[in-house]
Amino acid sequence: MSKNRVAIIGLGGIANAHMRGWGALDNAKVVAGADIAQSQLDKFSNKYPEVPQLFLDYRRMLDEVKPDYVSVCTWPPLHAEMVEAAAAAGAKGIACEKPMANSLAECDRMLVACRASGTKLAIGHQRRYNLRYTEAKAALDVGKIGALIEIQSLCRGDLFTDATHSLDLLRFFADDSPVEWVLGQVECKTGRSRFGHEVEDAALAFVSFQSGVRGLIQTGDVSPQAAYQRIMLTGTDGRIEIGGDGEEYWRIINGEQAGWVTHQVAQEAALNPFACYMRDLIRWVDEGGDYILTGEGGRATIEIINAVFESSHRRSRMRLPLYVTDNPLARMLANNEL
Ligand SMILES: NC(=O)c1ccc[n+]([C@@H]2O[C@H](COP(=O)([O-])OP(=O)(O)OC[C@H]3O[C@@H](n4cnc5c(N)ncnc54)[C@H](O)[C@@H]3O)[C@@H](O)[C@H]2O)c1
Repeated sequence: MSKNRVAIIGLGGIANAHMRGWGALDNAKVVAGADIAQSQLDKFSNKYPEVPQLFLDYRRMLDEVKPDYVSVCTWPPLHAEMVEAAAAAGAKGIACEKPMANSLAECDRMLVACRASGTKLAIGHQRRYNLRYTEAKAALDVGKIGALIEIQSLCRGDLFTDATHSLDLLRFFADDSPVEWVLGQVECKTGRSRFGHEVEDAALAFVSFQSGVRGLIQTGDVSPQAAYQRIMLTGTDGRIEIGGDGEEYWRIINGEQAGWVTHQVAQEAALNPFACYMRDLIRWVDEGGDYILTGEGGRATIEIINAVFESSHRRSRMRLPLYVTDNPLARMLANNEL
């Protein structure tokens, strides 16, 4: 089988997951990597001697290697320029890490560039492939708790870095229904930044989907600190709870049996979520059809996050589409409004 040639930009932590993902596929092979830091290139080449070409300049790599697929594994403020460059270099598909970017203006640059070159853009919300969520979604879809009313999510961490996954999962359980409005509040006292952008200390958000489903999310230090990506689904006829990281189970109560019924899951027995993310990206490029980690979906998540910030700024709910194209959190911090 001929293998798609893959190049990775940014050889830090998450690049290892991309190596594992691409490496699990018969039809892909990582042939090059780029990082601005020589120390990272050295570490990477010791760990993955099978990757033949390493570069300090990612643009040179794109130019010389002309990869079929590009993984963008850098911090969010760099995603737009790197996706634009990979699309211009002729990549068929791009697996860009989450969060897609810091602002809707940047997301739109990425989408426009990919549409112009015919490149398929995927965003790394690979948790949609985690078994505990997919099994719970399958139970929801066959009506085990009746019609979905509310989704609650608990996630320590911050909205951009961590709750980008939680909000994407809210969208997943709500069948990607468009959002009608968002009401949010954030607290930002410590002035922290992560992955090259400012983050809040705590956030609460209420997301009203057009389908009528409501989403509620608690992040940062207002969320129980033991909870990372824990989800609760309330339906007309029952309830499902899905464990967070380190809690590989989901459980259901619905009147079919007395009390809660718990299902343990073994993610590693299945294909790992990153391999599913890359496998289906290749399938999407080759065959078209639907894909669950699209750039448009990544943008929808950034739109909700920035609507939470803007709602906090305006002290009112934000109806979507959001016409605010900057990063409201960065703006509020620059203006001493938090
Ligand atoms: N999908 C997930 O579950 C998941 C998990 C962890 C992190 N992430 C995301 O992955 C992204 C990267 O996180 P990380 O933990 O790997 O960060 P990291 O700091 O470990 O790695 C980033 C790498 O990018 C390199 N870099 C910086 N500027 C560069 C440039 N101009 N050209 C080439 N390389 C450059 C850095 O030297 C570094 O090696 C973030 O957006 C983060 O939110 C996603």
